[in-house]
Order: sequence, then C-alpha cells, then structure tokens
Amino acid sequence: MIKTKPNFLYINSINKEPVDRTPIWIMRQAGRYLPEYNKVRQKHDFLTVCKTPELATEVTLQPIRRFGFDAAILFSDILVIPEALGQKLEFLENHGPKLSPQVLQDKDVENLKIEDIEIKLSYVGNAVKMITSELSGQTPLIGFSGSPFTLATYMIEGKPTRNFKFIKKMLYSDPQRLSSLLDLLTETVSRYLIMQIKAGVQAIQIFDTWGGILPVHLYEPFSAKYMKQIVRNLKGYNVPVTLFSKGGLELAKQLSDSNADMIGIDWMTDLSAAKDLLGKSYALQGNLDPTTLYGNQDIIQKEVEKILVVYGKESGHVFNLGHGILPDIPVDNVAFLVDTVREISEKLHA
Ligand code: CP3
Repeated sequence: MIKTKPNFLYINSINKEPVDRTPIWIMRQAGRYLPEYNKVRQKHDFLTVCKTPELATEVTLQPIRRFGFDAAILFSDILVIPEALGQKLEFLENHGPKLSPQVLQDKDVENLKIEDIEIKLSYVGNAVKMITSELSGQTPLIGFSGSPFTLATYMIEGKPTRNFKFIKKMLYSDPQRLSSLLDLLTETVSRYLIMQIKAGVQAIQIFDTWGGILPVHLYEPFSAKYMKQIVRNLKGYNVPVTLFSKGGLELAKQLSDSNADMIGIDWMTDLSAAKDLLGKSYALQGNLDPTTLYGNQDIIQKEVEKILVVYGKESGHVFNLGHGILPDIPVDNVAFLVDTVREISEKLHA
C-alpha cells in the first residue's frame, strides 16, 4: 500500500477548487523509460502485463512510487477493445501493434462482437480493483479509452501507417460504413468506461491520438461527435472526463461544446490561446513538448516556467506533456521535471 497524505490536487484542479500547487502526471508514465518497468517486461510480454492484474498493478504503481505523481493511470492499452471485439492483436517487436484481419468491408463491421464486452475485458476491471485497493484513496486512478475514430484507424489500417490510406478511402468512398463502425465503437467505449468506473476509477481520459489527420471540417462529424456522445453517456456517473486530442487549437475549439471537464492540449498549441478559448468552461491539461526532456535542466526549467506562468495562478491546470513520454528519455530528467513543476507552481500559488 502506498502511504502518503490523501492527494486531491488532480481532482481539485479539474473542479477549479483552490490548490497550493499545480498537479502533475505524464501520459505513458508507466513505460520503457523506467528501468523497473523494463525489468518486468524482460519476464513478461506486453499483453500479459495488461491481462494479469498483479502485473498491471505493479507497473501502474511504479511511477507513483518513484515520483509521487498526483494521479495514477491504469496500465492497459487502447487496443484491448478491438481485440475484445474479435480482431487478433499482436505487438511485434519494433513494428508496433498489428490488428488482423483489417476492418474493410461491411461484413467485417458486422463480424465485430459487442456482446459480452464487459466479460471479455473483465481483466481490466479486476486490475482497477486491485490498483485502487493498493492506492487506498491516496492518489486518484485515471481510467481511459481511445476515441472511436482513433480506435477505428488502428482497426481499419491494421498496422502503423504514414498516410492512413484505408480509413481515408472508406471515409470518402463509403462514409456510411465508417459511421456504423464509429457508432459501434461509441457504444463499446461507453460500456467499457462505465465498467471501469464501477470498478473504481476516479477519472476518465479519452485519447484521440489520430483525429488530427482529418480535415478540420470533418473532425466534428467523424471524431468529436462520437466523443461528445460518450461524455453524455458517462454524465450520470459523476467522474471527471478529459478529452485529449492531438491536432492543435482548431480541433480543441470543436470540443468547446463537449460538456467534458478538462481538455488535453498538445504541445503544438499555444496554451494562452487555448486558455482564452476554453479556460472559462474547462480545466486544461498539458502541454510540454515531450522532447523537451532530452534537453538539459536549464532548458527544462525555462520551458516548464513558461507553461506555468502562461496558465497563471488560478486553479484549473493539470501539468502534463503534450503527448506521451518517449522510451529513451533519461529518468533523471523526469525527476527534475516533477521537482521543477512543484517548486515553481508552489511559488506561483503562494
Ligand atoms: O499512460 C500510461 O502509462 C498507461 C498505459 C498506456 C499505454 N498505452 C501503455 C503502452 C496508455 C494510456 C496507452 C494509450 C495508447 N496506446 C494510445 C493513446 C495515447 C498515445 O500515446 O497516443 C495509443 C495510440 C496506443 C497504441 C499503442 N500501444 C502503440 C502505437 C504502441 C506501440 C508504440 C510504442 O510506443 O511502442 C503501444 C504499446 C504500448 N502501450 C507500450 C506501453 C507501455 C509499449 C509496449 C512495451 O512495453 O513494449
């Protein structure tokens, strides 16, 4: 069990209640930049870690123990959903994830099986129960899912891609087929997240990693619309929801009527412009460029200060990177980042 004072900074910041410093966690905080994670991975492959609650709990807690982050995030992957729907999922060494067969025809959409989704993903619920019991209310646990559009890109492309040819071909040649897939994913993601909430997660984040490949005018009908539906489906559960999209202010703007609680801002976006646009109605999360952490301490400090000062002293900011941490970031630089955010933001809030 992790023993510290109960830490409500993350939830309080989202609710814009007073905080004495800015909370920090980082996307992909459990992962290959941590030596203790790699030790677990030497013995177990990635999906085994996701599917074994004891192992998922261990790696979820590793960054909390080491850095005392203000939130934990469930260790899993967005691609367990396509697997539960019936695609075969493999993580090939150095090639990234592979899903087969690709979803290309109407029959491929019809073959996806949403029944019993909660049972097929019950290992996630079991991990959530074990993690929250270990955290014992001291640090909040974030549950997550990919957005319907982001999940659809992986399901249709089948493997990492540069040009997203298959999903874009479907978008322009048979939009109805893509919409039925997105409808099915919206229902699946909603049910999956409700299962996580019932198991005990205290917050939700939806990752829309690939919405930014859409032309701006197609972002609402093919990505934002479905995330907004999920937010509506979760409304009665009283758990704050963050929408993270990667694709700049133009996309973030289209989330301004989402009724989510927090918007994740990528590193390409000017935080002060995002605050002007969204800061009244939403808390904001972000947005340090993840590659800043290759820099020396002077650079890291300067960039952190810029972000904290731009947001200012009021509540409503959760410090994070603008996307996931990279596997070869020096772990000492992460420790320095956490200390720096605490030091500077404490002064700012004093
Ligand atoms: O943030 C956390 O610490 C929680 C765990 C988490 C993972 N993946 C673990 C993981 C979360 C929240 C994710 C989300 C995820 N997965 C996204 C959305 C966020 C983003 O980064 O854009 C996406 C697109 C995926 C799909 C995925 N999973 C890819 C493309 C890859 C391979 C590329 C890579 O980074 O290696 C993964 C594998 C993966 N997911 C790893 C981890 C720790 C590395 C696997 C390993 O240990 O070898």
